[in-house]
Amino acid sequence: MSHPAELRRPAPTRPILGEVSISGLDTWEKDLPAPKTNVIVGDARRTGLAANSVDVIVTSPPYWQKRDYGHPDQIGQEATPDGFVSSIMDCLTEWRRVLRPTGSIFLNVGDTYFKRSLVGIPGRIEAAAVDSGWSIRNRIIWAKTGGMPEPARNRLAVRHEYIIHLTYKPNYYYDLAGYREYLGVAANPGDVWMIEPERDMSAHLAPFPREIVRRAVTLACPPQVCAACGRARTRVEERTDQLDESRPQARRAMELAHLHKLTPAHIRAIQATGVSDVGKATKFQNGTGRNSAEVQRLAAEAKAALGGYFREFTFAKRETVGWTDCGHGEPSRGVLLDPFVGTGTATRVATEMGRDAIGVDLKPMLNGHPRLG
Ligand SMILES: C[S@@+](CC[C@H](N)C(=O)[O-])C[C@H]1O[C@@H](n2cnc3c(N)ncnc32)[C@H](O)[C@@H]1O
Repeated sequence: MSHPAELRRPAPTRPILGEVSISGLDTWEKDLPAPKTNVIVGDARRTGLAANSVDVIVTSPPYWQKRDYGHPDQIGQEATPDGFVSSIMDCLTEWRRVLRPTGSIFLNVGDTYFKRSLVGIPGRIEAAAVDSGWSIRNRIIWAKTGGMPEPARNRLAVRHEYIIHLTYKPNYYYDLAGYREYLGVAANPGDVWMIEPERDMSAHLAPFPREIVRRAVTLACPPQVCAACGRARTRVEERTDQLDESRPQARRAMELAHLHKLTPAHIRAIQATGVSDVGKATKFQNGTGRNSAEVQRLAAEAKAALGGYFREFTFAKRETVGWTDCGHGEPSRGVLLDPFVGTGTATRVATEMGRDAIGVDLKPMLNGHPRLG
C-alpha cells in the first residue's frame, strides 16, 4: 500500500495528539500473515539484523565458567569475570542497535562461585550497563522452590537467578494492564517470579521456563507494530466508576456514594482532580492545566460526602477501550529476538503468542538437534 510522503516520516518518540486514533487489535490482525521464526547461525555480538527492527530481547547467555559449548567464539569461558562482563557489554552494544527505541531487554543471568565466593556477576553487569547509559528498570528475582541437589555442606543451595530488565529510552513499550490481566491481579505485581525450572535433558542445555518468556512478552513486546512508521500500538484505557469490591474501604466508599446520591459526574470530578484530597489540590488534569469551576465544585461536594474514602475513587478500575492506530494501514507483528536461542524456547513461545521471532546462536539446537547452516 502506498502513502503520501508526509505519512512515511519516522515515528516521533512521543505520540502527537490528533495523529493517533483508536481501534481494536482485530482491525490489523486480519491482514497479518501467521507469526514466523527466523534462525540465524551466528554470534550474539554481530547479528547482522537491521537497526530498529526488534521490540524485545529475551535471552539467557551462558553463565560464566559453567558450561563449555565447544565453539571458539562462545561467550562464558572468559578467564576473568571482567572479561565475561565485557563480552556481555559487546552484546548490549549490538542489541541497542537492533532494538527499536521503545524496546526492552530481559536478560537472565546467574552468579558463579569462584575460589569459594560468589563473584557478583549480575551486579557487575548492571553496573557496567548503567555506566553505558542503560536503565535497569527491574532486577527480577526468579525464585525456584526446587532444583538440582548441590553438594556443598557449608552454604545454602542456590535457588534463584535474575532477570534484568534493561531499557535505553524513557518511553519504552510496557503493557502493565495486560500483565495484570494475564496474572489475574489488580495491583502492580511484584518483582519476584516463582517459576519452576523446566528441563530438557535430551539437549543438555539450560532451557528457559516458558513462563519467563510469556511474562516478558506480555509486558514488553507489542502485539502489533506499524510497518510504515515503526510505532507500536499501545493499549488505551479509561477509568470506570467500578471499585475493587474485595477491599472493605472500596465497599464503604460505594455505600457512601450511594447514600449521598453522588452522580457519575461527581466520580469523574474526583478522578479529574488526580489527587486524594481536593482541599490540597494544586494540579488538575482536564487538559488545560486547570479544572473548570464546575469540576472543582463537584469534587468538593464528593469530598464532603465521602470524607477519607474520597481517594478510593481515584483507584477505580480501568478498562481497555482500544489500541492506538497510526492510520498507515501497514500492520506487522511485534518482534522478539533471542540472541542465545539454544533450543528455541523463547522463539516458540513468542510465535505461540502471535509475535514474530528471531533466534541467533553459534550452535542452535532447535528440536534438540544442532542446526547447521
Ligand atoms: C544457556 S543456553 C540458552 C538456552 C536457551 N535459553 C534455551 O531455551 O534453550 C546458551 C546458548 O548460547 C549459545 N552461545 C554461546 N556463545 C554464543 C555467542 N557468542 N553467540 C551466540 N550464541 C552463543 C550456546 O550455543 C547456547 O546455545
